[in-house]
Amino acid sequence: MHVLVTGGAGYVGSVVADGLLRAGHAVTILDNLQQGHREAVPEGARFIKADFCRPEDLDAALRQPGLDAVMHMAAETIVEFSTTDPKRYFHTNIIGGINLLDGMIRHNLNRIVFSSSAAVYGEPLTAPIEENHPKNPINSYGLTKLMFEQVLEWYGKAYGLRHISLRYFNAAGATERLGEDHSPETHLIPNVLKAALAGAPVSVFGTDYPTRDGSCIRDYVHVIDIAQAHVLALEKLDTLKAGVYNLGSGQGYSVLEVVQTARKVTSIDIQAKLSAKRAGDPAVLVASSDRAKSELGWKPKYPQLEPIIDSAWRWIGGHPRGYAGA
Ligand SMILES: NC(=O)c1ccc[n+]([C@@H]2O[C@H](COP(=O)([O-])OP(=O)(O)OC[C@H]3O[C@@H](n4cnc5c(N)ncnc54)[C@H](O)[C@@H]3O)[C@@H](O)[C@H]2O)c1
Repeated sequence: MHVLVTGGAGYVGSVVADGLLRAGHAVTILDNLQQGHREAVPEGARFIKADFCRPEDLDAALRQPGLDAVMHMAAETIVEFSTTDPKRYFHTNIIGGINLLDGMIRHNLNRIVFSSSAAVYGEPLTAPIEENHPKNPINSYGLTKLMFEQVLEWYGKAYGLRHISLRYFNAAGATERLGEDHSPETHLIPNVLKAALAGAPVSVFGTDYPTRDGSCIRDYVHVIDIAQAHVLALEKLDTLKAGVYNLGSGQGYSVLEVVQTARKVTSIDIQAKLSAKRAGDPAVLVASSDRAKSELGWKPKYPQLEPIIDSAWRWIGGHPRGYAGA
């Protein structure tokens, strides 16, 4: 199939685009590079620098002959800012997203895989979290992801759109060529590894959570495994009942365990600076991915933390200043 990947110059999008190409699909990437990197566009993908919120930009991308599906990964993604500046999140993630769906209808495209998030659940009532767990997002980022899933439901019922939403937990790790380079970086693993490189301490927010060592527990899923799930979702879009799938490893690691594993991987004695809790950080977020395994046939290759951190460390070693220094 020929797939338009919005946000394909970003962290997860570039690895997904690479996975699609390796699986024999054709790829066009649409990205405005506000967070993405031209250097992250995999060889063999066509690149269009454009904003998916602008109907005229979209028409140029959607007009390509032979386009079969869209993977919608472009978004405002930094959870922390979504509480202080929610309008950016509603404009891009909702209004922009509807603009994309309307463009797809104009161009007779009816297949979409959407990058949703564990943030739709909010403060979890159970661990592991199943897809039917109550959805109570605690920031506008999570709310926009949930709202767009609901928009997809309605476009599915009314206009025959085939859609799958993949709710990732914490994407992490790297391929040999593609890794995580955000500005600012808010994700734990790259920040721990950058601290290791810089010989600086890393902040651990909250040490009195009701967990085994007092720090928060999260579920890290290798970005290569996320890419595999996208390829499977694309190939099953026409036959599966449209739906939502969690993508996680099913194993929780605490922040202090991440720091400890990073010490082992890097052989650097990374210092942890114990800091106050941040508002809105649930104690434990761990996925049940049984549905993705049984319905999509998803088989994560890297469920353990150490190989995930090891791949990220090797990428950072080759890109100490991110893509800018590549
Ligand atoms: N990284 C994670 O742990 C994680 C977890 C859950 C969900 N997600 C979702 O997965 C997707 C990818 O996340 P990521 O970590 O790779 O983020 P990212 O910021 O690296 O990638 C997003 C890409 O979208 C592009 N983009 C943003 N607004 C755009 C616009 N208006 N027009 C065109 N391009 C635009 C950015 O330039 C960037 O390249 C996002 O939708 C995110 O919400 C990520």
